[in-house]
Amino acid sequence: MTSHQYDPTFTDRVVDAMGPKTNPRLRQLMSGLIRHIHDFARENELTVDEWMQGVQMINWAGQMSDAKRNEGQLLCDVIGLESLVDEITYKVASEADAPTATAILGPFFRADTLVRQNGDSIVVTAADNGEMVFMQGQVIDYKTKKPIPGAIVEVWQASTNGLYEQQDSNQIEHNLRGKFTTDEDGRYWFYCLRPTPYPVPNDGPAGKLLELMDRHPYRPAHIHIFATHDGYKPLVTQIFDRKDPYLTNDSVFAVKDSLIVDFIPREGDPKASLELTYDVKLVARDS
Ligand code: BEZ
Ligand code: FE
Repeated sequence: MTSHQYDPTFTDRVVDAMGPKTNPRLRQLMSGLIRHIHDFARENELTVDEWMQGVQMINWAGQMSDAKRNEGQLLCDVIGLESLVDEITYKVASEADAPTATAILGPFFRADTLVRQNGDSIVVTAADNGEMVFMQGQVIDYKTKKPIPGAIVEVWQASTNGLYEQQDSNQIEHNLRGKFTTDEDGRYWFYCLRPTPYPVPNDGPAGKLLELMDRHPYRPAHIHIFATHDGYKPLVTQIFDRKDPYLTNDSVFAVKDSLIVDFIPREGDPKASLELTYDVKLVARDS
């Protein structure tokens, strides 16, 4: 069956129901959403039962969400929407001297992350089989190549059990996260864990959807980075371990080639057996 059998004026009537006080951008977004979702329903001959299953999934996501868990965001993640919106928002070329590419924030960012000193370890609760890493780098202006002193480099990562501290009552609060300030040469340095792959929470509708689509819930091992400085555009990204088996099939589609890194052996440091150097290239606000 084709869509022309349905009332051809119906979608226009729904779109045109918006009143003159509607914000122009909202009008544009809602018109597009209504048109696409109506076309989707017509093209697929969506049944009442199927639509109601979708409604129940959205309701379930709402019921599971709270200050520590954002199931609506996770549902968007597993269908690639957060990664697509990230790409649209921060279109960045992947040439060698381009700014650092962005990647999604994800649901485990905390706005109240503790400030730590360069050289500190973010590993406060020991992690079973965790490999310690000395991570360091420089925050630089991607155009002038000059270092940026006083930049904030915020990092967070899951523990080896696959859980972020806010998901796990056995981890001390703020474990595996911290905010570091770059020194006069734009440098930051701290100890962390070699990240390990973990499944996105799969006890809710996002997990159910993954199962229905015959997909696994794993994310490749990564460290989240949020870098800021008053004179520069904020950068949200993630870096990924080249050796990870899930690099090519991340359950939330966030991997970009330029964000893949190598952990290398570290000699003579009793605190870490591996090291990672990662420079962050920011874009000036006025460029
Ligand atoms: C994360 O990397 O923390 C994440 C991103 C998207 C969905 C779930 C987790
Ligand atoms: Fe993560």
